[in-house]
Amino acid sequence: MTDILLQNRPHDGVLLLTLNRPAKRNALNMELVLALDAALIEADEDDTVRCVVVTGDERAFSAGADIHDQHVHGAGVALSETRLAAWKRIGAFPKPIIAAVNGYVLGGGSELMMMMDMAIAGRSARIGQPEIKLGIFPGDGGTQRLPRLIGEKNALRMILSGDFVTAEDAWRMGLVSEVVDDDATVSTALDLAQRIAAHSPQAARLAKSTIKAGLDLPLEQGLELEHRNIRPLFGTSSQQENMAKFVARKDD
Ligand code: COA
Repeated sequence: MTDILLQNRPHDGVLLLTLNRPAKRNALNMELVLALDAALIEADEDDTVRCVVVTGDERAFSAGADIHDQHVHGAGVALSETRLAAWKRIGAFPKPIIAAVNGYVLGGGSELMMMMDMAIAGRSARIGQPEIKLGIFPGDGGTQRLPRLIGEKNALRMILSGDFVTAEDAWRMGLVSEVVDDDATVSTALDLAQRIAAHSPQAARLAKSTIKAGLDLPLEQGLELEHRNIRPLFGTSSQQENMAKFVARKDD
């Protein structure tokens, strides 16, 4: 466990990761990206982890890539193979993962939130892609994931203006899943994580990979993938036990 990323196990099956660089608004320097990558590799290998929640603090989920690093090292750090490989693995984490965000969710912080399966946002969160103000544009997936999530016009507006949007606006556009009071962000995400963790981990993993892969496929191929991926779930202990339990129900 490193200081820059706190790890807790608040409930059975649930891992809580807290970005912990508060003085720098949780800016994602190389150390923090690598710590997150390492924690998720471990979480993937650990069968007792069934769902992950990633959060920051009340002032910032994350204010994005570390501008000081990028000012000094430029593309050398932003596009370094080590960083890109870590970022790609984070985006491909195969278990359910939820962002719980408050405060500033900017640049790479917003792109990190986009890579997660669900996002619970505090009412006063402010979300944006301000890179244009620095003379660049989002380089951690924002130009590709944002228009897929919120549509071309909304994405162009956010990326070309650099304007922040409110949590409510982000919810209306489909960028976050739920808006709650600021002090309920983490608890809401953990409750959701607990419910997810109670289900079959094989079903969760396959449901996630089927949805993600299907988004890049024509419908017919997506439906074929769905049939291929559901087949191995028939015969798992979870399917057999849960269906047997349902069938054996007696009316009171
Ligand atoms: N990279 C590196 N350091 C950052 C950072 C970033 N993305 N965002 C904030 N910080 C640091 C500041 O340099 C400052 O450090 P210092 O106290 O050592 O000078 C500290 O975090 C606090 O930032 P500050 O601007 O004083 O706080 P604030 O609450 O007034 O404003 C923000 C917060 C997030 C609105 C503002 O810091 C900001 O605009 N950050 C950059 C956002 C951005 O452009 N992200 C895209 C990066 S490619």
